[in-house]
Amino acid sequence: MARPHIEPFCDRDVPFKKMTLPGFPSGMHYKMLSLDKDTGACTMTVQFDAGYRQPPGFSYSDIELLIMEGGLRVGDEMCGPGTYFFIPAGVALPAVSTKTGCLALLMYNQTEPNFVESDEDGDGADRSRLIQVNAYDDLSWQVPTLMPATAPGCLLKILRWDEVTGALSFLYCMVPGFWQDNISFHDCAEEAYHIWGTSWIMQFGDLPTGGYFWRPPYINHGPFASEHGILAFGRTDGELYNHFHFNPYTTLKENREWAAEKLKHRKPALFKWIVAHEHNHLTGSELKK
Ligand SMILES: [Fe+2]
Repeated sequence: MARPHIEPFCDRDVPFKKMTLPGFPSGMHYKMLSLDKDTGACTMTVQFDAGYRQPPGFSYSDIELLIMEGGLRVGDEMCGPGTYFFIPAGVALPAVSTKTGCLALLMYNQTEPNFVESDEDGDGADRSRLIQVNAYDDLSWQVPTLMPATAPGCLLKILRWDEVTGALSFLYCMVPGFWQDNISFHDCAEEAYHIWGTSWIMQFGDLPTGGYFWRPPYINHGPFASEHGILAFGRTDGELYNHFHFNPYTTLKENREWAAEKLKHRKPALFKWIVAHEHNHLTGSELKK
């Protein structure tokens, strides 16, 4: 997911555009939040107009969908705010419609948005990976178990964990008065959208309701604070490890080198194996780039 760094961005500052890609019914509008120009993978705020109707069908990409306002009827089921879907590539949904309209986050993980009308799953579809959950009503907040841990008052609801890549999709909140005084970076890209509320981050200022970022690996972020609290949706594209420090001036190269040095100590056998294998693996000098 080679998307550029986008931060801060607020979707309230830009108008909706009409979705005109082939296959999509009329009545769907979008705001592009981030886009991988190589693959077309993207994250969008989407407005389905009142009366929108979509026939049964699937996409060639994994899709993630979070309903934020209004609702969608999916087959016989009415799905309201907080409903999250992970729809694997090729898995067909029944007909989708909305009487009163719906505001949602919509993510295409491998390709540009596409829709194929079909009553059946496509070739190779793995329906066992389908997730549907109401993140507001059906899941409890949990204290993150990641170590090193974020400051108390930032809570999670895990919506999806990819056991191959370690990628996470989650709802998170900061309680009113939350603050964290250190600086973080990660080995993975990090993405978030503010469903409600404003938080402050030293490097990028206030992120309000409708605020969004796509943050590639090793970018310093923090300290953080939120006066009234926030509710947000977040994702990573790999295992989330908090590299914490207090130096706001470190570069991406220094952060990468520091992470590699940590790997050497935390997983010495793995580190040795990576640098020792000359075929199809990074060498020691490549790790320092
Ligand atoms: Fe982070």
